Amino acid sequence: MGRKLLLDKAHIEGIRYYDVYRKNGGYAAAEKALKSMTTDQVLDEVKKSGLRGRGGAGFPTGLKWSFIAKPEGVPRYLVCNADESEPGTFKDRYLMEFLPHLLIEGLLISSYTLGANSTYIYIRGEYAWIPDILEEAIAEAKKNGWLGKNIRGTGFDLEIYVQRGGGAYICGEETALIESLEGKRGNPRLKPPFPAVKVCGSRLPW
Ligand SMILES: Cc1cc2nc3c(=O)[nH]c(=O)nc-3n(C[C@H](O)[C@H](O)[C@H](O)COP(=O)(O)O)c2cc1C
Repeated sequence: MGRKLLLDKAHIEGIRYYDVYRKNGGYAAAEKALKSMTTDQVLDEVKKSGLRGRGGAGFPTGLKWSFIAKPEGVPRYLVCNADESEPGTFKDRYLMEFLPHLLIEGLLISSYTLGANSTYIYIRGEYAWIPDILEEAIAEAKKNGWLGKNIRGTGFDLEIYVQRGGGAYICGEETALIESLEGKRGNPRLKPPFPAVKVCGSRLPW
């Protein structure tokens, strides 16, 4: 049987809270990545790990990250797709409800690697009680120096924002999600370009 990677600590009482999460090894991976690794080294680790996306297509995460354009002076954003509207699916809900700091730590490492200073968690609107859990964890992480300006003296800045979805299944599709996040109707954009390559502009950005 495979080892549990994401949920191995989910049973620990109070793991939702910063102190318990930290005492159980939380934020050690972020510390290692931000303090002793370059972004290229983290990217290599992610490629080697064989990690794949959980959005349906199982696309290799490291490969997707290597597509991210890095023009100087242009802000980059990381969007966490927590729309999870597929009937009977609850892996994202479970993770956010019981291990919000694990998500925050993952977003921190990912944002550092991609050079994103703003991250949005787009969460299924029907998960009405979870944004409060996330906001509380974000506030705890910020109080303890894992979010905000100059994170733990590394010079890296990050803010995480929680955005409630409007309750449409299509908003889980990545380009519709971005439209919705930008305050527009959640219609999918034509692809290509794909969001990892270009997200700004309107539906016809070229
Ligand atoms: C109709 C539709 C609904 C989708 N809903 C979700 C969703 O709820 N959650 C999700 O992660 N991906 C969803 N996707 C896939 C996303 O478009 C995208 O491929 C995914 O967020 C990429 O995830 P990854 O970066 O983990 O590979 C949906 C796609 C379609 C076409």
